[in-house]
Amino acid sequence: MPKEENDLMEKIVSLCKRRGFVFPSSEVHGGFAGFYDYGHYGVAFSTNIKDSWWKEFVETRIDIYGLNSSIILNPKVWEKSGHVASFSDPMEGGSGFNVMFKTSVGAGEEATTAYLRPETAQGIFINFKNTVDAYHPKLPFGVAQIGKAFRNEIAPRDFLFRQREFEQMEIEYFIRPEDWEKYFEYWRVEMLHWLESIGIEMKKVHELEVPENERAHYSKRTVDFEFDFPFGRKELFGLAYRTDFDLKNHGLDYLDEETGEKLVPHVIEPSLGVDRMILAILVSAYTEDKLGGEARTFLKLAPAIAPVKVAVFPLLKNKPELVKKAREVFTAVKGEIPACEFDDNGNIGKRYRRQDEIGTPFCVTIDFDTLKDDTVTVRDRDTAEQERIKVSDLKKYIHEKIQ
Ligand code: GAP
Repeated sequence: MPKEENDLMEKIVSLCKRRGFVFPSSEVHGGFAGFYDYGHYGVAFSTNIKDSWWKEFVETRIDIYGLNSSIILNPKVWEKSGHVASFSDPMEGGSGFNVMFKTSVGAGEEATTAYLRPETAQGIFINFKNTVDAYHPKLPFGVAQIGKAFRNEIAPRDFLFRQREFEQMEIEYFIRPEDWEKYFEYWRVEMLHWLESIGIEMKKVHELEVPENERAHYSKRTVDFEFDFPFGRKELFGLAYRTDFDLKNHGLDYLDEETGEKLVPHVIEPSLGVDRMILAILVSAYTEDKLGGEARTFLKLAPAIAPVKVAVFPLLKNKPELVKKAREVFTAVKGEIPACEFDDNGNIGKRYRRQDEIGTPFCVTIDFDTLKDDTVTVRDRDTAEQERIKVSDLKKYIHEKIQ
């Protein structure tokens, strides 16, 4: 990896730890390769990304239903899905190592071997009949799920990129077989559009047509959407045409209630990793510039996904009248914009630096003029420019800017 890119990864990993986004798991006991913990800002950040996805693909649509299935499924699911036979990483010497984590369910002699799910998708397939019976959807329709997935990766690496426990956001979109090309293209465009909306640097995204011998066992066509990570061009998410492979293997079909026709729907699957999205957004947002001759670092996050939207400070923490007024303003703003922070640690310069690194789009400062004319300064993260705003206009002002 070129030195500059290596530095960028180190800087991102270090910022994530220093500012409470991501911690290496189990660090007090020497760490644990392939596992990470999200801190306060990391949780807010990933929740915002998942909310944006859910809003775009479930809430604002009428053809996609939500699901939260169990992580441990009847082990037969993974036999039927082909994962027991085929979900392997190639090992030296040509043998395969199945990357599904095994666990055991039940006690003593009754115990059966089960698996932690390596993809959320199977929970969707095995609930196909429940979905149809509950909502009577007409083709095409989809089911979306966000949840943890587990893979015993032989070589976890590159921070959040390749972990052993990670989160997926998947849609299984059920279609008539003859429509597969149309919906493959449809989902390709939908996904790119969403990536752009949450702040992925689109010139770093590249599509790779995955050749047949490298596709998953269930796929007839896969396009990998790769991203220029600092450690190379690697898969950010995938779009697959899973045919009727899964429904057929689970013995499921669909009855068109209007025509009486029975068929096994085919499936288009856009599948994203939450953690890889987080890393790609961090890479896209990480910025260094100079302010008043001093180097600064900031995360240029879209306001919708920034963990904190606005921070409120008293100019000086040892002036009770400023602190009191700042508390009042903070309480009023927080009532309307919950992702709002109060900060009176250190000096004002330190507070700006901290909020810049968290990616907070706006900082509000209460100073001596506030006490006289009820105005505050609002500092823009990207330009570092300040505007004076009336306290009575503040909530509206911020609201409009973070939409
Ligand atoms: N249901 C289809 C499926 O699971 P996949 O390409 O194996 O397909 C989908 O995984 C997405 O999950 C990937 O594009 C990636 O974003 C994420 N992902 C897969 N393995 C991962 C890992 N070890 N660590 C982090 N994310 C991973």
